[in-house]
Amino acid sequence: MADALKYLEAEIKDLKDQSLYSWPRTLDGANKAICVYDNKEVINLSANNYLGLCDHPKIVERALEYTKKYGAGPGAVRTIAGSMKIHLDLEEKIADFKHCEACLLFQSGYTANAGTSAAILDKQSIVFSDQLNHASIIDGIRISGTAKGIYKHSDMDHLKQLLEENRDKEYNRRLLVTDGVFSMDGDIAKLPELVELAREYDCIMMIDDAHSSGVLGSHGRGTVDHYNLHGQVDIQVGTLSKAIGALGGYVVGTRALIDWLMNRGRPILFSTSLPPAVVGAVDAAFDLLKEDDSLVKQLWQNREYWVKGLQEAGFDVGQSATPIVPIIAGENEKAVTLSRRLFEEGLFAQSIVFPTVPRGTARVRTIVTAKHTPDILDRALEIFTKVGKELEIIS
Ligand SMILES: Cc1ncc(COP(=O)(O)O)c(C=O)c1O
Repeated sequence: MADALKYLEAEIKDLKDQSLYSWPRTLDGANKAICVYDNKEVINLSANNYLGLCDHPKIVERALEYTKKYGAGPGAVRTIAGSMKIHLDLEEKIADFKHCEACLLFQSGYTANAGTSAAILDKQSIVFSDQLNHASIIDGIRISGTAKGIYKHSDMDHLKQLLEENRDKEYNRRLLVTDGVFSMDGDIAKLPELVELAREYDCIMMIDDAHSSGVLGSHGRGTVDHYNLHGQVDIQVGTLSKAIGALGGYVVGTRALIDWLMNRGRPILFSTSLPPAVVGAVDAAFDLLKEDDSLVKQLWQNREYWVKGLQEAGFDVGQSATPIVPIIAGENEKAVTLSRRLFEEGLFAQSIVFPTVPRGTARVRTIVTAKHTPDILDRALEIFTKVGKELEIIS
């Protein structure tokens, strides 16, 4: 039995030889701006906890309250055991917040993306997808068996060319899908142009707002709100695991879309929904976002402070336009060394290397949150400057 998996040892060695092997660090305690990883207190610039909601007292309190009232788990898949009322109430709250007709909760942003594109597309369809879209979108596309037109990142001319080439072909559906904020570069999708093209070429328009929910738009309503394109995007996906601070995903759109996903979304049909603790946490997070946009404002203030400091020190932050701020180091080895040295000096920021990003653009990705005070960011900048000079990334 053990021998059947022996080949994995060679595969793992291969990963190690190529510097592609990784094992996550261990976080001791809640996710915060400063926390303990691998027994060392460090500045944490690695998490998507944009608003610092992971351990917000009101959110933790409602998670506990819901657990006490409704138990630890929902019992079974919704289509078998029924929806809990708390799921339906939360869906109504999110739909209202996003100014959409209806909402469906998923177990994660991953299942929301993969389950939705797989439910919308089939072998007679075609999808037009940004080259840098998230893996969960790509996996949904693969499952559906649809034809594909992958356009160069945010390149509207290339997209138009692909749309034109496929204009007269007989597809039953055309889907145009993009991330709202791209997770490796922190740039924002050109949604107004995408919406125009979707309209011109009769495509369903879908956006993955994983890194935009709670970040972009008024009170963090997302990319559609940021560009004031309400009613013009057919499918909006969001995650509840990043700025919302808990876990899960959701889709908002028309009632017909949600009805279809309840009937044909495989993660809904074959996997149990979110536990009450998570529903409570998310419910409190949306109340907080709706009532008060001070955390979103603080997030953006901190982001501007951080980028200005890095640029003044001479770092290349690529295309970043959001709290995701990459520091481009060049080759894989350099980014890995940068991340390791930063950690030794008291700062945790993950290195991202080829093949996740193109060769020669390996980077350390920093993510600023509403909880990174100027003092913390000044200290982070000192560390970056010291290590950046040492590795000759800046002079
Ligand atoms: C762009 C993007 N979409 C979707 C997801 C999936 O979200 P979740 O972690 O909630 O499954 C992620 C998470 O890494 C992401 O970065």
